[in-house]
Amino acid sequence: MRHGANRETVSLRIPCAADAKALVAAVQASCDQLSVWLPWATADYGDDTAIQWIDGAFGASHRFVIETGGQLLGCGFLSRFDRLHRSAHLGYWVRTDRTRQGYATAATRLMTRFALGPGAFERVEIRVAVGNLASRRVAEKSGATFEGIARNGFCLHGVMHDVCVFSFVRGDAIPNAPRSFLSVREGS
Ligand SMILES: CC(C)(COP(=O)(O)OP(=O)(O)OC[C@H]1O[C@@H](n2cnc3c(N)ncnc32)[C@H](O)[C@@H]1OP(=O)(O)O)[C@@H](O)C(=O)NCCC(=O)NCCS
Repeated sequence: MRHGANRETVSLRIPCAADAKALVAAVQASCDQLSVWLPWATADYGDDTAIQWIDGAFGASHRFVIETGGQLLGCGFLSRFDRLHRSAHLGYWVRTDRTRQGYATAATRLMTRFALGPGAFERVEIRVAVGNLASRRVAEKSGATFEGIARNGFCLHGVMHDVCVFSFVRGDAIPNAPRSFLSVREGS
């Protein structure tokens, strides 16, 4: 499965315990930007929390590290599985010093292809706070369909936010791009 971001090869793979240090470093280096939209990204994010996330302790999900040249750039995830209606939510973050290079978009396309693969989900939803312009752009560029706004869809830091709802469903065209791939094997 191949997609891409700019000129570098981007890969997604299942995280392992050895990723914890790089994960903590990326979160801490990006805390100011991440925490606005992802309240778990606090300054005291540490090894224990990273290991818990890697191990799937925060609920059923598929978790991926996004990397290039062996450097962890961020993470992506499929979560909130609804087995009855065959849907999942898709999320992502990228360390601040590596943003605006297409990585989140490439990761979104790869995860969507995985999620809508044979026997998997029928719908992938991306929910983005209205004010999160960068993430909205990622959803748009990835090829997701904008469905509308869910009023008061997120509570972030005690404040309600309207939420843009984007989706992919089976049969949608997912734009292609070179130089990226997803591995569902654990580790690097
Ligand atoms: C959102 C995020 C994942 C984007 O990662 P990224 O690797 O920079 O994404 P991409 O490079 O694929 O695309 C980003 C797009 O947003 C645009 N963008 C970035 N900041 C923007 C802003 N403040 N206003 C408008 N557009 C913006 C970029 O220009 C780019 O669009 P372009 O290619 O048309 O120029 C990253 O900024 C991040 O981790 N943010 C904090 C966590 C977060 O919000 N996660 C999503 C929760 S729903």
